[in-house]
Amino acid sequence: MGGRIPDDVIDRIRDHFDIVDVVGQTVQLKKSGRNFFGLCPFHSERTPSFSVSPDKQIYYCFGCGAGGDVIRFLMETEQLTFVEAITQLADQAGIQLPRSQGEMRRDPEEEKRQQLRKVTELAARLYHHLLLESDHGAQAREYLTERGITRGTMEEFQLGFSPDSYHFLHSFLKRRGVDEKTAVEAGLLVERDSSRGPSACFDRFRGRIMFPIHDTQGRVIAFGGRVLGEGQPKYLNSPETTLFYKGKFLYNLHRARKAVRKAEQAILFEGYMDVISAWQAGVFTGVATLGTALTESQARVIRRNAGTAVICYDSDRAGQNAADRAAEVLKEQGCVVKVAKMPPGMDPDDYVRSRGADSFSGEVIAQALPYPAFKLESLKAGFNLRDEEEKMGYLTRAIEVIAELPRAIEQDHYLRRLAEEFHLSLDALKQELRRIASKKRGSNGDKGTGKWNNGYHRGKHMVGQERRPQAHEQAEKRLLTAMMHDRSVADRVMKTVGADFNIEIHAAIAAYLYSYYSEGHPADPGRFLRYLKDDRLLREASGLVILDTPEVTEEEISDYIRHIRNYPLHKEIERKKEQVKQAERAGDIAEATRLGVELIRLREKVHKQA
Ligand code: CTP
Ligand code: MN
Repeated sequence: MGGRIPDDVIDRIRDHFDIVDVVGQTVQLKKSGRNFFGLCPFHSERTPSFSVSPDKQIYYCFGCGAGGDVIRFLMETEQLTFVEAITQLADQAGIQLPRSQGEMRRDPEEEKRQQLRKVTELAARLYHHLLLESDHGAQAREYLTERGITRGTMEEFQLGFSPDSYHFLHSFLKRRGVDEKTAVEAGLLVERDSSRGPSACFDRFRGRIMFPIHDTQGRVIAFGGRVLGEGQPKYLNSPETTLFYKGKFLYNLHRARKAVRKAEQAILFEGYMDVISAWQAGVFTGVATLGTALTESQARVIRRNAGTAVICYDSDRAGQNAADRAAEVLKEQGCVVKVAKMPPGMDPDDYVRSRGADSFSGEVIAQALPYPAFKLESLKAGFNLRDEEEKMGYLTRAIEVIAELPRAIEQDHYLRRLAEEFHLSLDALKQELRRIASKKRGSNGDKGTGKWNNGYHRGKHMVGQERRPQAHEQAEKRLLTAMMHDRSVADRVMKTVGADFNIEIHAAIAAYLYSYYSEGHPADPGRFLRYLKDDRLLREASGLVILDTPEVTEEEISDYIRHIRNYPLHKEIERKKEQVKQAERAGDIAEATRLGVELIRLREKVHKQA
């Protein structure tokens, strides 16, 4: 990580800050023992499981597993890249970052991105100016005004207009000395077949209202362009560039983030105009996807900023299906999901215009249904409830939905509602629920990756009652922790265990530790965490570091090593024992004897020493 910024500079920056102060600006912390505790900013919880260790200068959440050092914390809470976080901290600390003077090697990719940002910003300013001040923009101004958008809102959202010409932006950029290639890479110009002569480029956006799309830092990285009135395609978006990935960014997030954090809730819309209308109506927590279905990565961004997501999509079939999918993705990331219901044929923007701002926030948003209720409601559309048989069909599906809910009280609540609504006995419904649930468990096997095991569930309800770790797992964890604190332990484990940790993620952490030490880094858990690039590893490793580790003796270390090396053998032995029993039960003495010999061989292989 941070290959371009020298390690000693990073260390100086890290040492300058006390993680307790930095985290304390975002999270209310209380001291308890050696560590501080507070409510985790990365998942929603009522009892604090987020801890900060002043000794180790790291944070870790026992609920959701988020963890890292002060730099990581800033990256996660502010959605910064590593370099951006370092730059911000260096600024605050008054530490000079080595720059272009050859001290720090230039990052060619970052330089490219900077160039792209520059032209994109330039285009945004041109479009905005054209919309607000020029004759070219008169019709577009009128169109937006007609749609109820005020001048103030146009300014706030930096809305723009691209004239209906193939070379408007093109000649403008040329006059400004912008390299055509860069403008093409930024998705602003399109390249014509190059055999057609010198002026082979033309404007991508022509005759469209321009919606600038910003990154989390508020820099313009792309555009959505809407035709004036009718026409196809209605929206044209920038292609993906090195700056812009549709699945990664959310429209309006940089503007909404503060409000979202404060309200602990984000509203997810489908369209740019919905976000803008809602904003104008005083709803400042709206964001939208960028013309694609909500991705996991976007859901994660929402989750990092708010515990609850309110989905506010069109009321048509397509909109509701999209809402269903988005809800699943959001739940998967640990969001509490609500769904706002629109009257038929309306999208949020239509609603605000026809019924006003108060009704929108007071009725639509405030009365959003919890996801299960919404799902039970929308399920009805597929059944004719006056038909007895179809009613039974609906009830079966409804109970299946209820069976998926993670909490017993939630299940109970919706079962009761169903019983009341259909005048059925609660007991009968409960029985049916148990039947469905047990069928589900049967088919799920014990992979432990079902819906029940998502982060939300773990975070919110299972802290402290998680399954007891098995001995070999515990041994691996203790050993890894000791290895992080002491290089000689790591050396010893490298020779004896090597990559043969039984749990895959432990093997990966060990591998990183070996190479960390071999590159000459000192034993320093905080620093090692920074060295880990992979999110999953980082979480796991932070979990190990935060636990207070008493001194481990030589003997204990030998014990752990032996345990880890023998674990696969023990497993094999157990399996053999079972096979012997089976053969005996089947009366196959020859087979039982053969297996018995194998069993003895296995037992001989067990390591007596580390
Ligand atoms: N969209 C897109 N390409 C299209 C149509 C839609 O990328 N051809 C995306 C845009 O991000 C748009 C969103 O999907 O904002 C929702 O589309 P739609 O509901 O059709 O548009 P509205 O937001 O309702 O726009 P308007 O009110 O201006 O018609
Ligand atoms: Mn609309």
